[in-house]
Amino acid sequence: MKFFIDTALLSEIEEAASLGILDGVTTNPSLMAKVGIQGQEAIYQHYKKICDLVDNNVSAEVISTDFEGMMKEADALAGIDEKIVVKIPMIPDGVKAIKKLSGMGARTNCTLVFSAGQALVAAKAGATYVSPFLGRLDDISMDSMEMLGQIVNIYQNYNFQTEILGASVRHPMHVITAAEMGVDVVTASLKTLKALFQHPLTDVGLEKFLADYQKSQK
Ligand code: E4P
Repeated sequence: MKFFIDTALLSEIEEAASLGILDGVTTNPSLMAKVGIQGQEAIYQHYKKICDLVDNNVSAEVISTDFEGMMKEADALAGIDEKIVVKIPMIPDGVKAIKKLSGMGARTNCTLVFSAGQALVAAKAGATYVSPFLGRLDDISMDSMEMLGQIVNIYQNYNFQTEILGASVRHPMHVITAAEMGVDVVTASLKTLKALFQHPLTDVGLEKFLADYQKSQK
């Protein structure tokens, strides 16, 4: 399973990368706004800084909602760095753009996916990644894990090459359940990624080992 970090904050990306388990970054316009990046030039420069911190897979989202606009933006975003994956919303023009871009060999991430039907369409269009949003579905009392299971089954049935990227991850159990299903990638906050490391018995055990070592040295 690949781990992406879901942030535009350079310090968090740096910290996650230093842990040695990071495979990429996902951003979206809200995450870019959260770090105070304004204007296209500054945004593109920020994407470049993110690319310099990781080996691959930096999802950068288009703002346009029409096919022509998305294609133009995709070209500009992909021109920033070869690590960029163009993130495109699950709308009809978005699907058209994904189809066209995949035919041109460009990597895409189909975002804002909330159903197995949408994921099926994204795979048929040739998306590199499909991003089902887990937390946002749970927020409206729908079962995100049921949707994820359906997507895994459908993709296996037809041997789709599109990688499933669990997004809107809110806690470690989203990651673990996704991993049990064989989901290819999750994108999560630094907090959630770090929570995967933790167990109280590890802390207690380490404390005891170190205390016993100190005693044995007296
Ligand atoms: C990542 O690709 C998505 O944009 C992100 O995971 C959405 O997360 P949120 O639901 O916490 O905003």
